[in-house]
Amino acid sequence: MKNKINQLLEEVKNITASNLDDLEALRIKYLSKKGQISELFNDFRNVANEEKREVGQLLNELKNAAQDKLNDLKESFINSGESDQKNDLTRSSDPIKLGTRHPLSLVKHEIIEIFSRIGFTIAEGPEIEDDWHVFGALNFPPEHPARDMQDTFFIEQNPDVLLRTHTSSVQSRIMAHKKPPIRMLFPGRVYRNEAISYRAHCFFHQVEGLYIDKNVSFADLKQALMYFAKEMFGENTEIRLRPSYFPFTEPSAEMDISCNICGGKGCPFCKHTGWVEILGCGMVDPNVLENCGIDSKVYSGYAFGMGVERITNLKFQVKDLRLFSENDVRFLQQFESAH
Ligand code: DAH
Repeated sequence: MKNKINQLLEEVKNITASNLDDLEALRIKYLSKKGQISELFNDFRNVANEEKREVGQLLNELKNAAQDKLNDLKESFINSGESDQKNDLTRSSDPIKLGTRHPLSLVKHEIIEIFSRIGFTIAEGPEIEDDWHVFGALNFPPEHPARDMQDTFFIEQNPDVLLRTHTSSVQSRIMAHKKPPIRMLFPGRVYRNEAISYRAHCFFHQVEGLYIDKNVSFADLKQALMYFAKEMFGENTEIRLRPSYFPFTEPSAEMDISCNICGGKGCPFCKHTGWVEILGCGMVDPNVLENCGIDSKVYSGYAFGMGVERITNLKFQVKDLRLFSENDVRFLQQFESAH
């Protein structure tokens, strides 16, 4: 018996296996109920009493050695990727955390989507612009304060190269190249030389709208904007147009909507007036049409421009504009369900 045990001890120390199936075969051979080591345990009762102590110890030593060896081999397979677990094709994959759309993108897309339903297509223009497209063509007199260093970022001391201060610049580009009818939206980023605070930033986003055709009237403008307001803020939303001034539109107006936070009753957001301003608009000034090569005796048109941050604030009540550009995931993840 002792010989047999010693022989198996030797054998066990040297066992090798090249895969998990081999390993299982070895377990059966040595350690299963009918395995060689288990059989030795069965024979143990025939061992003479005076030898029981020594043989018993040897037997336990053998059993532990076999067990340890098989465990070691198994572990090495797991580490090298040969494990059952790794190869289990039914295991669910590691969860991938999906990103979220930026709130400004969500709102920009919604604006585009609403106007696309009434025939508007999209165009984009450069953010680095020249004076003519941002101001000159749009009827800004040379001494207009918007050209002042206070508002406009100029590039490299050259007063003709600047960061656009509004997306109206895309109007002048499109009108110079495209024949009416034109029914387009111009979304994009704009820059102004402002101190950054919770309510102002040196860059923000606008969506500009332009419709040029024969016989376009102020009534068409009002109808399109009312449709937009109700689609964006709900069927019960009301609008009002207040006379205003922009160099590139005549007449010009600013549009308010009934405050969608308090429903028009009055709250801090609408400064207790029940109304909030959301965009500027008007009939394209004939000078602008002529500057861009469109015959103002044949064509007329309307334009409007809105700030995407402003609309987003109204929809989601974001109190600090800086949150939009800080990329804080705790802020961005809150818009997961808004998709
Ligand atoms: N460009 C103006 C701004 O940045 C917004 C605007 C007002 C655009 C009236 C228009 C418009 O097209 O008709 O403040």
